[in-house]
Amino acid sequence: MLIRPTKPVPENEVTDARLWLGRRQVIAAAATGLLAASLPAAATPSGSAPGLGALSFTPGKLPAGETLTSRDKITSYNNFYEFGTDKSDPAENAGALKVLPWTVTVEGECHKPGQFAIEDLIKPGSLQERIYRHRCVEGWSMVIPWIGLPLASLLGRVEPTGNAKYVAFETLLRPSEMTGQNSHVLDWPYREGLRLDEAMNDLTLLAVGLYGDVLPNQNGTPIRLVVPWKYGFKGAKSIVRIRLQEQMPQTSWNMYAPGEYGFYSNVNPDVDHPRWSQRKERRVGEVFRRETLKFNGYGEQVASLYAGMDLKVNY
Ligand code: MTE
Repeated sequence: MLIRPTKPVPENEVTDARLWLGRRQVIAAAATGLLAASLPAAATPSGSAPGLGALSFTPGKLPAGETLTSRDKITSYNNFYEFGTDKSDPAENAGALKVLPWTVTVEGECHKPGQFAIEDLIKPGSLQERIYRHRCVEGWSMVIPWIGLPLASLLGRVEPTGNAKYVAFETLLRPSEMTGQNSHVLDWPYREGLRLDEAMNDLTLLAVGLYGDVLPNQNGTPIRLVVPWKYGFKGAKSIVRIRLQEQMPQTSWNMYAPGEYGFYSNVNPDVDHPRWSQRKERRVGEVFRRETLKFNGYGEQVASLYAGMDLKVNY
């Protein structure tokens, strides 16, 4: 996000993506009965990790023409400033974070505010796999097989009042384990926000896993926001608080540099960042840059949310 150009990434892409696709083909075979004798009847893939156990989820679809970014890249080339500002810092330092117990408080303009334990949010039947393009404002992109629950399903449980116009998100504040919070690079905790209709859109996900397993710490354990038509920084990691409110929330990057990072932050090749163009992006692991798509290619699902708005003003 900052300040320095991104480092080139060595090429080492395909192996684990192929393994994942191979595993999903096995799952598809099971679903059509070919492997019925050897796999459980539900035929949903699952992954296990210490503490939270296996995730059970409905498999998603790889968007046409896309290739998954390798798990290795997705988990080693990260922005998570609570653990340092280099892309390699989160993978190196986030292991210090103690994840359990974890609750997400949902409060503010709603009839049934509550505290939700992570175990409640990931219970069987609630999770779906969603394979999304992920476009960072810095100009790189990935294709990530997330597992999560639609944010709308959690917001539905708390029953927003008529005054709820926006949703604010806050990351954990724990400088003893998130040592980057001892520096003033951002005003902690990390904050993000969405308009309520953006939050309720079916694409908007609370991700709890990727590549079949619970989220690695560096990707935002145990729960993070994913809004695929917006730049990646909207995806607040390690969320502990969600607040429904009438006013537009403050957001970390907008507070840091209001002229560079707006509230909406929709992927838009027609609106340059003040210091670089947003017309092209580099898919991590690819050599040549490709054209960036408006709304990151999700216009059919979300363009109507912005009808009549000047997206150059509301960047
Ligand atoms: N969330 C928190 N809490 N702290 C951060 O520094 N960085 C953001 C976003 N969420 C960030 C965060 C940025 S700039 C990006 S591009 C994405 O996380 C990166 O997500 P990834 O590392 O899973 O690719």
